[in-house]
Parts: sequence; C-alpha cells; structure tokens
Amino acid sequence: MFRGNKINLRIMEKEDIPTYAKWMNDPDFVGEFFIPFPRSVAAVEKKFDEEQPDSATFIIEAKDGTPVGWITHFMTRFGGYMSTKEIGYMLVPDHRRKGFCTEAVTMMVDYLFLDKEWQRIQALIMEENVASKRVLEKNGFKKEGVLRKVLFSVGRFRDLALYGILRDEWKEPKILPHGVK
Ligand SMILES: CC(C)(COP(=O)(O)OP(=O)(O)OC[C@H]1O[C@@H](n2cnc3c(N)ncnc32)[C@H](O)[C@@H]1OP(=O)(O)O)[C@@H](O)C(=O)NCCC(=O)NCCS
Repeated sequence: MFRGNKINLRIMEKEDIPTYAKWMNDPDFVGEFFIPFPRSVAAVEKKFDEEQPDSATFIIEAKDGTPVGWITHFMTRFGGYMSTKEIGYMLVPDHRRKGFCTEAVTMMVDYLFLDKEWQRIQALIMEENVASKRVLEKNGFKKEGVLRKVLFSVGRFRDLALYGILRDEWKEPKILPHGVK
C-alpha cells in the first residue's frame, strides 16, 4: 500500500476483478474516447492469472477506502527493438476533478523511478483528452510528439499524443518516502 495525501494505491487483487470488469463495461467509466471493454469476470480473471512480468495494476482508493479507479504500468515495445515503461489510468466519474488521478500518477512515477532503472516513463493519450493531458503536464511530463491516426476508437481513427518524463526531469520523489533509493 502506498499512502498519499488524497488517495492510496494498493495492488489489485483477485477480489477486485468484479468491480474492475463492471467499471470497464460502463460507458461513463471509460469516458468519451473509448467504447466499453465488455469482458466477463472469468475472462478478466484468466488474464489476471497469466504472469505479466514488469507490469502491475493498482486500485486507487479514496482515504475512506472506497475504490475510485485504477492505474497501471507496463512495458510497451515498438519498432521491434525498443521498449519503455508506460502508464494508464481511469477514475470513476463521481470522483473525477478532485485531483485523485494527478496524485496517483505522482505516486506511480515516484514508485517506478525509485524502484527500477527506467530512464523514462511514457503515456499515450488521445489528443482531445484535455483531462489526461493536464494530469500528465501537472506531473512534469512533456509532449514528445503525435502519432497521427494511429488508433481506431469510437468510430474513427484518432491521433495519439505521446508524453514522457525522464528520470533526470523527475529529480526526486514527491510523495513516496524520501531516501528509499
Ligand atoms: C483522465 C482522468 C483519469 C482524469 O482524472 P481526474 O482524477 O479527474 O483528474 P484530476 O482531478 O487529477 O485533474 C487533473 C487536471 O485535469 C483537469 N480536468 C479534469 N477533468 C477535466 C475535464 N473534463 N475537462 C477539462 N479539464 C479537466 C483538472 O481541472 C485538473 O487541472 P487543474 O488542476 O489545472 O484544474 C479522468 O477524467 C478519466 O478517468 N477519464 C476517462 C478515462 C480516460 O480518459 N483515461 C485516460 C486514458 S489516457
């Protein structure tokens, strides 16, 4: 469990799968840039059981213990020979605009840079996703470029903006305990 000021992050457990599957099947939860991902609890459980080295999903909890979303990190490969750490996140609509996602990303970046020798962390977001863009900018991510018409989502090909933060730009942990290096 990582304790923040507004939220905590705890690793996702099997017991969270029904909630996660319900969230991902809810148009309001996935938001305007995605269509729901209808998968049965059994299908999500099967994927959850498969070993996924260098990836993990955390449940974002409000301070009273209410699950309010998820944040994940994983290795993404491109060009056949490069790989980098990437993050993704979603919050339940009733708990948006409270700064929860911003803090979840702050903690995830602290965790990844404290824990591993990654040089960079990236996020790929829809160009029009203003909320996600703000979350990343507030955490020091820089826009690195645009992949034009790379993802088909909600009926059309969309541009994805690539954001990244380097270890040198992060400098030091903002929330997780100092001196853990
Ligand atoms: C993107 C998302 C995770 C942001 O979560 P959140 O907890 O509401 O974000 P925060 O409260 O930390 O807000 C961060 C910033 O974005 C702004 N913001 C949040 N929602 C916004 C919106 N709908 N429009 C414009 N700005 C918005 C906030 O005002 C804040 O900026 P500020 O401090 O300058 O005012 C959430 O909107 C969401 O789950 N959306 C649907 C799924 C999704 O798109 N996930 C991202 C995929 S890449």
